[in-house]
Amino acid sequence: MGVVQLKKKEREFNLTDKDFNLISKIVGDRTGIVLSPAKRDMVYSRLTRRLRTLGLTQFKDYCELIQGGDEAELLEFTNAITTNLTSFFRENHHFDYLAKTVLPGLIKKKPNKKIRVWSAGCSSGEEPYSLAITFKENVPANWDVKILATDLDTNMVAKGKNGTYEVDKLTGLSKSQLKKWVQRGRGNQEGMARMSESLREMITFKQLNLMHEWPVKGPFDFIFCRNVVIYFDKDTQRVLFERYANLLDHDAHLFIGHSESLHNVSNRFKLLGKTIYQKIG
Ligand SMILES: C[S@@+](CC[C@H](N)C(=O)[O-])C[C@H]1O[C@@H](n2cnc3c(N)ncnc32)[C@H](O)[C@@H]1O
Repeated sequence: MGVVQLKKKEREFNLTDKDFNLISKIVGDRTGIVLSPAKRDMVYSRLTRRLRTLGLTQFKDYCELIQGGDEAELLEFTNAITTNLTSFFRENHHFDYLAKTVLPGLIKKKPNKKIRVWSAGCSSGEEPYSLAITFKENVPANWDVKILATDLDTNMVAKGKNGTYEVDKLTGLSKSQLKKWVQRGRGNQEGMARMSESLREMITFKQLNLMHEWPVKGPFDFIFCRNVVIYFDKDTQRVLFERYANLLDHDAHLFIGHSESLHNVSNRFKLLGKTIYQKIG
């Protein structure tokens, strides 16, 4: 028996081309995420838990369920499909650039002492908390700073709101940052740590689908949308960055992920440095 045949036989559930194509279509329509055939194994492994929980024996039945518009399951389905990888101070050069260039510039130019930023596709919150720490360390305490943090995945938004992480996940924070901004858990919370209240107060977490209407109020002084559009096709990216440009203040900054680019996507921004853009029109 060939390896491929063996692999197929060992699989607990049968995922046919028809099932996979339908799943890709629903994911694309609902989230903008493009599931190429290369993502087939990923789809299988992320959805098998749903099939088991629901007591289903084949993907065909699961497809019927989500196709039928079961909203509760569609939510679980989307949460299972999203890739939520993130970390504190990920792509640290962005935070350096904020501290050295963007924030000193804003402090000079904003007489109302207000800063508004958006972390779009914030996953479980490590990105907005890293922003909050950067603000605490580089903006005078009497300034009014607010971070909007949004994600499609409701589990991630809940985790961000709670602000509790495994201690092992805090490697991006320095010793002094840990001391100042994090409370370690004790007893049954041993091994966990919670972001301090003063950081949590700065951030508003909300579920938001970037493909839908945005009930958000600009203008923003900068937007972080990192490692999100990599999953979208170019046309979706074009619409998205147009909408970001319209929500950003004059000259405001946009930060994208390390493998993303606005080349052939938007001419509303100029490139300032590695994945750092400024609005020009
Ligand atoms: C890889 S994480 C990036 C997290 C963080 N920005 C970072 O760079 O570390 C991508 C996030 O985008 C979110 N996402 C995917 N499609 C989305 C959509 N249509 N609307 C809002 N968020 C979406 C996912 O749920 C996921 O949490």
